[in-house]
Amino acid sequence: MIAKPKGTYDLMGVDAKIYTYISHEIEDMMSNYNYELIRTPIFEASELFHRSVGETTDIVTKETYDFKDRGDRNITLRPEGTAGVVRSVIENKLYGNKNDAIKLYYNGTMYRYERPQSGRNREFTQFGIEAFNSNDPMLDAEVISVSYYLLNNLGIEATVAINSLGDAESRKNYTDALVKYLKPHINDLCEDCQNRINTNPLRILDCKVDKDSEILKNVPKISDYLSKESKERFEKVKEYLNILDINYEVNENIVRGLDYYDENVWEYIADSDGVTLGGGGRYNHLVEALDGPSIPAVGFAMGIERIILNIKENIEVKNLDQAVDVYIMSVSDEEKIRALEIAQYLRLNNVATEINSCNLSMKSQFKIADRLQAKFLIILNNEDLQKGLVNIKDNATKEEIKVDEAEVVDWILGNI
Ligand code: HAM
Repeated sequence: MIAKPKGTYDLMGVDAKIYTYISHEIEDMMSNYNYELIRTPIFEASELFHRSVGETTDIVTKETYDFKDRGDRNITLRPEGTAGVVRSVIENKLYGNKNDAIKLYYNGTMYRYERPQSGRNREFTQFGIEAFNSNDPMLDAEVISVSYYLLNNLGIEATVAINSLGDAESRKNYTDALVKYLKPHINDLCEDCQNRINTNPLRILDCKVDKDSEILKNVPKISDYLSKESKERFEKVKEYLNILDINYEVNENIVRGLDYYDENVWEYIADSDGVTLGGGGRYNHLVEALDGPSIPAVGFAMGIERIILNIKENIEVKNLDQAVDVYIMSVSDEEKIRALEIAQYLRLNNVATEINSCNLSMKSQFKIADRLQAKFLIILNNEDLQKGLVNIKDNATKEEIKVDEAEVVDWILGNI
């Protein structure tokens, strides 16, 4: 037997039902908030991720799936969605002459070579949105609220942990102060942090190994280094979040694991277990850094597997069980043909219908109809069919009536 690769999984059973339920919620939300679907390739030129996510990030140094294709090109399986969307916006000139926001979303698989554990896979799914062309913090607030209320609709309580990384100058001043403070203590931090102080000092702030160390508890505060504009932008987004009734808290350790961010950044933390479900922020310089025009952008992504895990642990999944409106019972050849015809009409009229396609006995069909929570049973028998009649049984009240075969679809449509 050939097993699946480490860190991957087969989506099925309850998880698949929850996945479908989440996907429907996403589609509804995206239509209500006026976001358009974009689908970009699962593999891209490796350089795209080096130049966007960042050469020194964990993702690029340790986690990408890189290979040479048969044409000797350097290819990488996408570890996240933002870079591909930005590439596509530039390549397809989606910004054009538009002066309103370009609002896009995606829901697809990503690949990171991480150590697999609960909620951490090598192939995983992200729902994300990317919005371009507006530097207004109102768009930050909208992007934050989409996913906050998506979680809310799915029954997940979460807190948005927000921070401001400031503009380039604020960040430079802060990074200098951070390095100055950390240098004398650096040997007391983990090996990764000893490297990060030279390559990416901000990342030390969200180190999982050193997170409880006294050294990190007393670092300079980034809020003391923000420019007036960055501070105002941060205040504004908080004001909007209050208006939108979003549960948030400022957390100065939120620095994000990707290099393209500036200004406001945030993560969604599940109230039940503290797991990070998603994250995002502004990236006003990425489009230009990838050879596009200078247009501001903001976005976020959340991990669908982590949402599935949370839902499975915290809500009653019984009502996600597969269910139909109608089960049509048939045994003889003539009954089967009629079942097929009636089912076709019902299904094409949006009535979820199941038929006996396994040659089962009547007894088994009753059991299956119950398992599928059928509201009505259409019980076909040769005798009635010859008179042009069909039996319909209400599976809750157990009442039965005979209906003219020509009227059965209308009857069902009028009664479900
Ligand atoms: P990220 O924080 O790297 O951001 O990933 C977002 C979410 O993807 C995480 O919070 C987590 O739920 C999920 N995720 C990440 N890695 C894994 C994994 N190995 N297994 C399962 N789930 C995982 C980004 O990717 C940015 N592109 C978000 C963004 C969009 N920022 C602006 N626009």
